[in-house]
Amino acid sequence: MCGIVGIVGDYDARNYLINGLKSLEYRGYDSAGISVMSGKEIMTYRVVGRVNLLETKIPSLINVNLGIGHTRWATHGEPSFNNCHPHKSNHGLFTIVHNGVIENFHEIKNELIQKGYTFYSETDTEVIANVLEDEYGSTNDVLSAINGCLKRLHGSLAIAIIFKNFNDKLFFAKRKSPLLIGVGETTHYLASDALPMIKYAKKFIDLTDNQYGFISKNEVKIFQDGIKQRAKYTTRNAELLNTDLNGFPHYMIKEIEEIPSCISRLVDNYVNNGSYCFNKEMIETLRKSKCISFIACGTSYHASLIGKNYLESIGKTSNVYIASEWAYFPKFLDENEVFILVSQSGETADVITCLKILNQTHTHPSITITNTKGSTLERDATYSALLYAGVEIAVASTKAYNAQVALLYLLKSAIINDTNAPFKLLDTNNLLTDIIKRKESFKEIAEKIKNAHHAFFLGRGLDYCVALEGSLKLKEISYIHSEAFPGGELKHGPIALIEENTPVFGFITNKRISQAMRGNFSEITARKGTIYSFVTKENAIDNDTFVIENYDSELIVLATVMITQYLAYYAALLRGNDIDKPRNLAKSVTVE
Ligand code: AGP
Repeated sequence: MCGIVGIVGDYDARNYLINGLKSLEYRGYDSAGISVMSGKEIMTYRVVGRVNLLETKIPSLINVNLGIGHTRWATHGEPSFNNCHPHKSNHGLFTIVHNGVIENFHEIKNELIQKGYTFYSETDTEVIANVLEDEYGSTNDVLSAINGCLKRLHGSLAIAIIFKNFNDKLFFAKRKSPLLIGVGETTHYLASDALPMIKYAKKFIDLTDNQYGFISKNEVKIFQDGIKQRAKYTTRNAELLNTDLNGFPHYMIKEIEEIPSCISRLVDNYVNNGSYCFNKEMIETLRKSKCISFIACGTSYHASLIGKNYLESIGKTSNVYIASEWAYFPKFLDENEVFILVSQSGETADVITCLKILNQTHTHPSITITNTKGSTLERDATYSALLYAGVEIAVASTKAYNAQVALLYLLKSAIINDTNAPFKLLDTNNLLTDIIKRKESFKEIAEKIKNAHHAFFLGRGLDYCVALEGSLKLKEISYIHSEAFPGGELKHGPIALIEENTPVFGFITNKRISQAMRGNFSEITARKGTIYSFVTKENAIDNDTFVIENYDSELIVLATVMITQYLAYYAALLRGNDIDKPRNLAKSVTVE
């Protein structure tokens, strides 16, 4: 969702802001803008549309050293010029960009209108700019104004602020939404994540909730409730933040084909000389707990379903909750229940809300599984385990899902100290490489289904978990309406939707359910639906669409899900869609 960049110092601000916004495009957005300060003048450029368009509006020769930029994913008000950020306060004292949602903005807006303020947009951001001005009116001090603003406003905000009278300081505040400071030699940076800053900053400061302050060419000052805070520096691995396409036409296909290397990297990070090297206390906590529950959204929720199966196979009780549901109806099934929060971005607002609830209990340990070092979920959980999958740019998650599943497999194996498991996991790469080699088959299938209005995915057991993820992937990027069902549920309702040529993707990777699934396939063909069957050798019959080598029933999901990722990719490609930036979706869902 919305992305923020900011800069002050010697480096060319135009260059940083434009390139920075481009690197945040993957988060999802509909409009973009920047404000830069030259002398005492603040110049603002805004567009509805892409950063490339914004770039054409900004004079190439402007020489500025302070500025802020924003990509907006509309929450309050449609994507329109007036709603684009940056927004300024009525008397032009404050110009700001914002990521988050102000919950009491109607109330505060009305208060401000009573005081004579006028609003030119539908956004909650314009309210923040005017609250800052209002607070400044009574304190005459920018930092006190920001602190006052944080107290008056409820909800989430990461803001970068230009104050009209200072052309050498860039102010900021953070609550719930992500914001990082990048420390360069004679320049300081702000951004929603490390990507825009990785080329310039040597170290980073991950701001925590309710911190505010300013950066200048040579200094960083952080405060919380009026009290100066010590900056905690962190670093990032530039290799994991590499965004080169390396010759691939889209990030999605590049990321699918990185899956084998992600698996190798995971094993490298968590297994040393045949022994697991997870945090010992974390593994002990998992061992002791009878009940381990997952909380996640979307693709991470689907990976958690596989995790639940893994944990049940070693005798644990396990549940999987959708974060936005659990947040409103929290359930605790056991006094020693441990919660695993799975999130690629580590910044998903619904999951963060759940973590806050868990942390308030002081009794239930939390483990975050995330791909994003320094993210809120990574920092605020009792324990965390990184995915080391490398930055995922395509909005549709692929390699992060496989890394989540692989990590969950390693975790359950570490709990029972199964030292053979890492070798089995590494061996899976042969199967995955074989799938990559045969990707043209998936393009041929996509060609046949590209004009479908509906599609269905069927499976049983772990194949059903894969069906759920495959269906989500297809709808996200091809915009073909798609649903997934357990094979047995078909005749309890969904079969009513099967018409002539309705594509149904069916999976059989387990002998136990082979016959039952064949029955479901017959029910579909009897209604003239078209079955595309993906089956293991031992379950194959003539005319199956795609046959996979027999493989470990717990790990084969890593291969079958890859098939669904390719299917979605090619269907979207053939329909001419914007594969890496599908409509309406955001990579990092930072609002509830
Ligand atoms: C994945 O393809 C989706 N874009 C989406 O469902 C995503 O998995 C979900 O928003 C959760 O994100 P997270 O893993 O970053 O928490």
